[in-house]
Amino acid sequence: MTKELPKNFLWGGATADFQYEGGYAEVGRGPSTHDYETNGSPEHPRHHTMKMPNGDTINLKSSFLDAEDVPEEAKPVWLKDQYYPSHQAVDFYHHYKEDIKLMAGMGFSVYRFSIAWSRIFPNGEENEPNKEGLKFYDNVISELEKYHIQPLITICHDEMPVHLALKYDGWSSRKAIELYVKYAKALFEHFGSRCKYWLTFNEINAVRGFGPSGVHKATGLKRYQAAHNMFVASAKTVKLGHKLIPGSRFGTMYALSTCYPATCKPEDVFHNQQELRENWYFVDTMGRGYYPRYADEILQHHGIEGLSEIKMDSADQQTLKDGQLDFIAFSYYRSNISKAGDKWFNVGGSANPYLEKKPWGWGLDPLGLRYTMNMIYDRIQKPIFIVENGMGAIDKPDENGFVEDDYRIDYLQKHLSAVADAINIDKVPCIGYTMWAPIDLVSLSTGEMKKRYGFVYVDMDDLGHGSLKRIPKKSYAWMKHIIETNGKALDD
Ligand code: BG6
Repeated sequence: MTKELPKNFLWGGATADFQYEGGYAEVGRGPSTHDYETNGSPEHPRHHTMKMPNGDTINLKSSFLDAEDVPEEAKPVWLKDQYYPSHQAVDFYHHYKEDIKLMAGMGFSVYRFSIAWSRIFPNGEENEPNKEGLKFYDNVISELEKYHIQPLITICHDEMPVHLALKYDGWSSRKAIELYVKYAKALFEHFGSRCKYWLTFNEINAVRGFGPSGVHKATGLKRYQAAHNMFVASAKTVKLGHKLIPGSRFGTMYALSTCYPATCKPEDVFHNQQELRENWYFVDTMGRGYYPRYADEILQHHGIEGLSEIKMDSADQQTLKDGQLDFIAFSYYRSNISKAGDKWFNVGGSANPYLEKKPWGWGLDPLGLRYTMNMIYDRIQKPIFIVENGMGAIDKPDENGFVEDDYRIDYLQKHLSAVADAINIDKVPCIGYTMWAPIDLVSLSTGEMKKRYGFVYVDMDDLGHGSLKRIPKKSYAWMKHIIETNGKALDD
């Protein structure tokens, strides 16, 4: 079966502001929760740096899925001897013209980027949006339009103005719903006529803790209360977006790198089904517009009585129904396994002995992507959008800065072939594919620069030193050819 994709299939790349954009204090941008997060590595987890009322500084592990609770009385601070990668990131803020030209050079038809909430509402509570902040994204969209690349905007990618985290405990408060909807409305009024595809949140099923959700406590009731408030905010935003932007399409993005049962022992299979529901809890509620029947079981697993313990307004049920998503967006990088008795991994698990291991311990599983695409569509029956997929690797540039990244080409060739099979053979409706991340940027989980994903090398090291020069890698020309042939060349 041919690997050529349907004519209107969207090809592109994805980035997140605090890993890519930099310019953290430009045009009145306010501080965001990630601005206080240090760099790190697999051996040395990232930290949020905080000061206690008695003057003591504390370092709290901020790692993606394993964040430490932040004491209510702690205040985030910047320490002179620490490096905070989000401040400069790889400086898209000053390189956007050059970067978008490089994306256009590959033939992208879509570019997924997130808007920094605190660039538009610096502390989250202003009455009017920051005009200069809007202007920056106007410039970005104008540049995209020049090359006929359409934007796919992530309204909120794992962060919020730090003021809202400190004053309201982030998403655990319903106040965040009102402020988020106000922010989204400002984006719709300003960019609505220029953007059709929107994502309300990034990897909402993995979001927890101070960095991604502004909530001081990372687990238990607070986490699931925050999730409920995000569901309601997303639904209100979808409804509003449909009203303000005719023809607009809304998704939320889920981390759906999958996990298989370790064996065919019924106990392992059942355990796996239960733990995967931890992810479906998010997809089902937002994709179908109501909480699934197994919701109480999930919550009980986290020490919560059930939905009855989550604070809801009487109108919330109807809001969820009215604000269902139009499509399901997801990230897929790898797969893992789990067995009965393991703790639930909602992203992750143990290594699969049948898979080749890639750097950072990821199991290479392209068929898992096809499996996941089918699984989502069978379940929700709404179009899907693959908005993150890619391989982090240590690239070794030659004396001219050129990287021969055959390993990345191999990863993408296999994954894109699996995408083509899901579309052409299994008939899964898929809007497009945005590779993470077309230009090298800072890793979310480790804060490193050496975990590179791009088609384009950026001359910068783990501590932010370097010329920031952009140099296309071997995979750049390869991807250009794949896009030119609309996937047909995947067969070559
Ligand atoms: C997803 C996030 O978790 O995976 C991105 O949406 C992130 O922000 C990407 O960068 C890859 O993970 P990492 O930790 O390698 O950057």
